[in-house]
Amino acid sequence: MSRDLLRGLDPAWSAGEPARLIAQHPARAAELAALDPPLATLYERGAAVLAGARDAAELRERHVALLGRERGVVSLALAELPALTVEERRARGRALNLTKRWLTEIEEARRAQLERDAESKDALDVTLPGRKPWVGRPHVLAQIRDELLDLFHGLGYSVYLSPEVELDEYNFGKLNFPPDHPARDAHDTYFVNQQVVLRTHTSPGWVRAMEERKPPLRLVFPGRVYRAEQVDASHMDQFHQMDGLCVDRDVSMADLKATLNTFARSILGREVTTRLIPIYFPFVEPGCQLDVACAICGGGGRVRGGEGEARCPVCKGAGWSELLGAGMVHPNVFRAVGYDPEEVTGFAFGMGLERIAMARYGIPEIRLFLENDLRFLGQF
Ligand code: DAH
Repeated sequence: MSRDLLRGLDPAWSAGEPARLIAQHPARAAELAALDPPLATLYERGAAVLAGARDAAELRERHVALLGRERGVVSLALAELPALTVEERRARGRALNLTKRWLTEIEEARRAQLERDAESKDALDVTLPGRKPWVGRPHVLAQIRDELLDLFHGLGYSVYLSPEVELDEYNFGKLNFPPDHPARDAHDTYFVNQQVVLRTHTSPGWVRAMEERKPPLRLVFPGRVYRAEQVDASHMDQFHQMDGLCVDRDVSMADLKATLNTFARSILGREVTTRLIPIYFPFVEPGCQLDVACAICGGGGRVRGGEGEARCPVCKGAGWSELLGAGMVHPNVFRAVGYDPEEVTGFAFGMGLERIAMARYGIPEIRLFLENDLRFLGQF
């Protein structure tokens, strides 16, 4: 009888440890052994091969052989019951029902375990579609900076980096800001102590470069700057600038204008509308400011909002956005670094990188640059 019962089970099938799935397994095997020894043998072997199934397909195959409705050994044995005596029938029937129920439990437990394994991290499901690798990219401001560096490299400029924590003397003094001059107030400075500040612009780089080197110079100074600003759509207390400095004999305002035009067309397109207006900076004379028509309102100074028309939040209704400051290097700055203003002349310019990105892409809000929202950063 027992050999008969095991006939449907392949002796080559891998065996597992059912007690690890169902703690009561040994007790159940013992109960069956007392009730019906041949069935106990079937139960033990069936439990072992179910527990030892290595994947869902093997589990299915073993289920069919053991519990399948047509040819499963348990179903076949149940079909034979009527041929037995009443006595035999009662013991075998009870044992078969227990075998069926307990084998089913082991099968379920093994299936759940296989599914858990498949979901766990180190399991490899070769049928899953591949995951796209996460590819990063430079921040939009880094892209603008690199583009500017490329452009100025083409015009013969090299890069000079100067400290973010700067001496007051370099941030202001040697740049011809007289002590207690109101121009200092415009810079809303973060002081580290009386002599040391967080640089409020990248212009101090010129002083350091000129003290170190002899003319002619053609340099750009990219970097982060700090101002104790009231934060709004177009002001942050940290942002990025890039100054440029060209010092040589007979450098003129015409050279500056040509350079600024090359810059504006290259960065904002041939069609860009700009204007150059005179303005005061202590370190240049004459000083000027290059404006572009505001990218948000197109120069009109007003935008359509939720409730009709409103003042443009970026240019504050002016229609123009300041892109950079520029001018001819002040003789006092040359004197401060030991250059002879009778010998050399020079021009300089300084631009805000956020402003350029905002003008180029129509970004209405300067705070977006620092928020690290991938929905924003992913657009550039
Ligand atoms: N440093 C000035 C600022 O941050 C901008 C500036 C103006 C830079 C004129 C220059 C310049 O190089 O020539 O407001």
